[in-house]
Amino acid sequence: MSSVTVRAPAKINLALAVGGMRRDGYHPVATIYQAVDLCDEVRATPQASSDITVSVTYDGRSPGETAQVPLGPDNLAVRAAELLRRQAGVTSGISLAIRKAIPVSGGMAGGSADAAAALIACDLVWGLASPRTKLLELAGELGSDVPFCLMGGTAMGTGRGELISPVLARGKYFWVLALAATGLSTPAVYAEFDRLSKHFEPPEPQIAPALMAALRAGDAAALGAALSNDLQDAALALRPELAHTLTVGEECGALGTVISGSGPTTVFLAADEEHALDISLTLTGARACADVVQAVGPVSGARPIGG
Ligand code: C5P
Repeated sequence: MSSVTVRAPAKINLALAVGGMRRDGYHPVATIYQAVDLCDEVRATPQASSDITVSVTYDGRSPGETAQVPLGPDNLAVRAAELLRRQAGVTSGISLAIRKAIPVSGGMAGGSADAAAALIACDLVWGLASPRTKLLELAGELGSDVPFCLMGGTAMGTGRGELISPVLARGKYFWVLALAATGLSTPAVYAEFDRLSKHFEPPEPQIAPALMAALRAGDAAALGAALSNDLQDAALALRPELAHTLTVGEECGALGTVISGSGPTTVFLAADEEHALDISLTLTGARACADVVQAVGPVSGARPIGG
């Protein structure tokens, strides 16, 4: 096959419960992910040599962001292509062109989305027709959030986040995402979580029944009230100015506010599209963040868009 382009969504964590560090250095989590319509695209093109190469373009916003995406073997999309190639015994090369809209190091699984998209794109280009279960397994090896980026929708993540099961969620949710000018390192936020919790053993991670009930009912107000993130205090300790962003969102009547994942992106749940616009304008007017994006969820996981 010639070029294939795959689009993959960003995630937000509606809830993120985190336990004490495991022996392997990861933390057990119980999380509810939702995929939103802020997407990266990965175009995979076969190449004559056996090289796997990558290029990245960034969709507007902060031009400095591209500098943060590695362009060598550390790039998560390149690692995805390498892993699939090794598993399948393929020797062909491929060039990956990533178009990024998801903020880099924003707590929204941008790198994971690229890896999920690369797995599907390379699988199609190389004609492997790998079973879904195989791709999910490889995704879990690449990173904790990669399986969810393949799956999309609204789902529960356990283990270190890589064990995914869909949850019953009704309704369409209108989100406002407040983006920061610079990202936060996920390991640094987890390390801060460890520091803050060193005098007590964090309980086994669990999702509040109220959040599951809100999703089942499609009740946005109840969902807003149930948003939670155990990494929020750690992200706020490393980035105190996020407290102001959260307060501005609360003051303009967001149904709920929370930091997504390890941050620094803060998310606000709006009642409808008009309310989302209101919140966006208020955040921009108050200079409470570097940029504001409106997004809708849930949307599907990584899938080809043709061309
Ligand atoms: O799995 P992933 O590569 O995305 O994780 C990045 C880093 O985040 C890990 O190296 C670890 O420091 C931290 N992490 C963690 N517990 C998790 C997920 C990530 O400690 N459940």
